[in-house]
Amino acid sequence: MSKLLFDPMKHPEWIAPQTAEWHANLASEDGGYKYPWKSVLDEPRAEVILADKIVEFLNENARVLDVGCGHGEFTKRFAHKAKEVVGIDIVEGYIASAQEDTVESVSFLTVDADTPIPFPDDYFDIVYTKKGPWLFHKGIEEGYRIIKPGGIVLGLHHCGTDGGLRSFFPGLYAPFPENYLDDIKMKFELQLSESNLENVELQIFEEIEYLSSPEDVLIKKCFGQKESLKKIVWQECLKDVEEIFHRHATPKGLRVVNYHVLMFGIASQSA
Ligand SMILES: C[S@@+](CC[C@H](N)C(=O)[O-])C[C@H]1O[C@@H](n2cnc3c(N)ncnc32)[C@H](O)[C@@H]1O
Repeated sequence: MSKLLFDPMKHPEWIAPQTAEWHANLASEDGGYKYPWKSVLDEPRAEVILADKIVEFLNENARVLDVGCGHGEFTKRFAHKAKEVVGIDIVEGYIASAQEDTVESVSFLTVDADTPIPFPDDYFDIVYTKKGPWLFHKGIEEGYRIIKPGGIVLGLHHCGTDGGLRSFFPGLYAPFPENYLDDIKMKFELQLSESNLENVELQIFEEIEYLSSPEDVLIKKCFGQKESLKKIVWQECLKDVEEIFHRHATPKGLRVVNYHVLMFGIASQSA
């Protein structure tokens, strides 16, 4: 049995990822939702799969909404490819970063997607989210209100990283629960089957990433945490992580697998 490493999630300073406090910390420290670790990704990358799918449906008259756009880097890709692209996010600091380099035809607004979205009925031709809120849950009307009948809905969700990472660094990373990926698939399938979307499709796919150095293992684990906790984690773990990393790394870095779900649907014409 390998040595159990320090578990930063048990430290009182640990901030639960994806909470309001965690996003506020990230926005104040980094100004955006940017992965700070160094790595190399094999093609096809998850965000390229999503971007290609969006581009398939774009035209010069299309209006596009990015829900939970973060600092807007991805949103801006669609500038000049559509009539209007809007990014919304609940975190003011992310929206402030997004607005720093304005691009024609793209705008950003601080909006909580769980409240009314400030656009008229049937406004958008495409509504997507890249790892943000999904507006097409059972019982939520807002997504259906702002999208045109026949409009395109897309969602990319990150479902965790493994491919060895979780067994190489016990304690620092916990194993996926049994049947984790099957359960995830079932959860998203149910979500789509209960929605009012038509022609639904769901795809789970693997993205291969090579973490560049032992420190990147820790940077990934401590994404969005405070500097004071990072210092403790480095002191507690770096030596062991270096040893484990060099035992398993390939010439490109430590190979890990990111699991993603891509959801697709068309807003009902009869809604
Ligand atoms: C995992 S991050 C993804 C950010 C960006 N789409 C990206 O891929 O880099 C999730 C984003 O959803 C935003 N978010 C979470 N809840 C939200 C809500 N209720 N309304 C609007 N945005 C929200 C967060 O602030 C965060 O920027």
